[in-house]
Order: sequence, then structure tokens, then C-alpha cells
Amino acid sequence: MAPVPISPIKVGHIDDVQELRKSGPATIPERFVRDMTERPTLDTAPPSTNTVPVIDFSRLVKGNKEEHKSEMLELTRACEEWGFFQVINHGIDLGLLKSIEKVAKDFFMLPLGEKQKHQMLPGTVQGYGQAFVFSEDQKLDWCNMLALGLEPHFIRVPELWPTEPLKFSETVEIYSGEVRKLCQHLLQYIAMTLNLRADFFEEMFGVAVQAIRMNYYPPCARPDLVLGLSPHSDGSALTVLQQGKGSPGGLQILKDSKWVPVQPVPDAFVINIGDTLEVLTNGKYKSVEHRAVTDREKDRLSIVTFYAPSYETELGPIPELVDENNPCKYRTYNHGEYSKHYVTSKLQGKKTLEFAKVESKIATS
Ligand code: OGA
Ligand code: NI
Repeated sequence: MAPVPISPIKVGHIDDVQELRKSGPATIPERFVRDMTERPTLDTAPPSTNTVPVIDFSRLVKGNKEEHKSEMLELTRACEEWGFFQVINHGIDLGLLKSIEKVAKDFFMLPLGEKQKHQMLPGTVQGYGQAFVFSEDQKLDWCNMLALGLEPHFIRVPELWPTEPLKFSETVEIYSGEVRKLCQHLLQYIAMTLNLRADFFEEMFGVAVQAIRMNYYPPCARPDLVLGLSPHSDGSALTVLQQGKGSPGGLQILKDSKWVPVQPVPDAFVINIGDTLEVLTNGKYKSVEHRAVTDREKDRLSIVTFYAPSYETELGPIPELVDENNPCKYRTYNHGEYSKHYVTSKLQGKKTLEFAKVESKIATS
């Protein structure tokens, strides 16, 4: 999510999805129609019992010994087997969740001209528009995005911050502060599941990089042909996703080569392990590929926070997690370099992580 200024590139005409819906609700321009192999399988089956684990955060923090222990085991299982989990009783004021959703929704409902004052420039990843588009023939996602770098302050681009709704910036600041604390706490528990000191990641990360992306998925007359968001893994250490209240499901994760829907749990956050933790844990905890599908009738909002080490951090497998049974899978690299590589590549499954593989053939300079 680094705001990397890069030279102008040709991305062709990018339709604004909300405007498309208004002018021709049944029209799906060719650029949104996925090739057969990419088209989504939609969730028509009854919910499977094999779903993303749910972690009760309050039991981690203030449960009795037994509760804490069993929740830690569940967290370990979630990180090892799923790379995804939902957190309930996270302690963040539910009123704040409601407020961030309101300012996000109000922003997306503004007239296009108003939103375009904060337009994402081609090849960059901050502002309003479609990120990760780098060519004229690349398929587009059925989604409008607003992405903003938050911390440290030098990654902020103030002109991209909406001035409407009035409470937008204030709400984002308060929300981000709370989510930052949640990330720090979760990383402490995750460190403990790895037999590391609780403050291991905090110390290593320095002043962590934090960004927010609000994704608005309008309904789509042909959800079978399009994707809301292309398959990808996140470049972060941890990602925290809030789904709009009453929004239909839409997030799917690739588990054992099958796309599994993440059923929304009211007031919960969906957390996932990003590429950075996969590398640090030498693949013990995986950054799982995921995507979003659209709904025929309902719109969907998600508010996503990315939490990552400072750009100066040197990353590589933690020595304690490498031994003869777990040989070193990733090289050591600079996180800023990885971020730059991530934001200048299109979303394509876990391809960006090739960068970090020991046998990587991608040039790093
Ligand atoms: C993301 C993401 C999924 C969703 O923004 O990185 O994976 O459901 N979003 O919006
Ligand atoms: Ni993601």
C-alpha cells in the first residue's frame, strides 16, 4: 500500500462501477467479464460446517487460565490451518464500527464528480478508483475503492482524503487508532503461539505502516461473470476486515484448492495473515489467497486495514523457525522493496510472493 509515484502508464478507460449500474443495470462491459477459468463459483450450497475459526478475543485477554489456553490453541490452529479467522468480543466500540461504515457509505454515495476530486492516478494505489490496474487489456474488478495511507504520516496524501462527509477524517483517525491497537495485541498473541516473546513483532516492525481501503461492491446483474476483487494475498503482516452490517457474504478464501465463503459474523472482524507473516514464520503460517464475489441484488461494503512493518525493516524467516525439517524457504529482503513490488504488480493470486522465495528469479533492483 505504499504510495509509490511511478511513471504514467496506459490503463485504458476504466468505467466507474456505480455509474455503470445507474446507466445500464444489466450491462456488463467486456472488460469486466472474466475468462472462463476465472469465473466465480457462487455460494448456493448451504453453509458448510468447515468454516473459518472464530476467536473470542476477550478470552485471550481476560479469560481464566483454561479459557486463555484453549483460545490460544484455537488461534494457533487458525493461523496454521486457515490463515484466516474472525475475532469476536474484540473490545472496539460497536458504535465506532457503525460510524466508519456510515462515513464510508456516505462517501461512496456522493456524486461521481465529488469523489473524483480524490481520484487515484493510474499506477498508484491511493485515492478513489480501481487499484492494481496496469494495462489496457487487464480485466477490471466490479468494485469502487477508496484507499488511503495512514501511518507513518509521511505516506499520507492529504488531497486524497475526502472532505465530505464532514466527519470522514475524524472517524478514520479514531477507527485506525483502535484497529492499530488490536493489530498490536493480536501480534503479541500470535508471537506467543510461536514461542516468541510477546513483543517480538512490535520490536521488529518499528513504526508500523498502516493503510485503509474501503471497498464498495455494487450489485451485479451477472455475478457469475465478474469478480468483485481479483484473487490475491495481502502484502501486510496482518489484515483486519470489517464487513458492512447486513452486507451479503462475498469474501472467499482458497482452502485445499477450493473457494470457501467466509460467512459474516455480526460485529466481528475478519483477520488474515499477510505475506509478511508467511515469510517471517518460514511458511508455518500462510498468507492465504482470497477474492470477493458480487451479489445479484445487494451491494456490499468492506473496510480493510493493512498493518505492516516499517519500510526499513529487513525481513526473512525467523531463525528459531528454521531447522533441518523446515529449511529456509524465503530470502531476506527489505520490506520497502517488497511493498513497492507489491503495489506495482497486478493482483494475481500469490504471485507477488515469488519475490521472496529463495529460488526467486525476479530481479530486486
Ligand atoms: C482486500 C480484500 C476482500 C473484501 O481489500 O485486500 O481482500 O471482502 N478485500 O472486500
Ligand atoms: Ni485482501
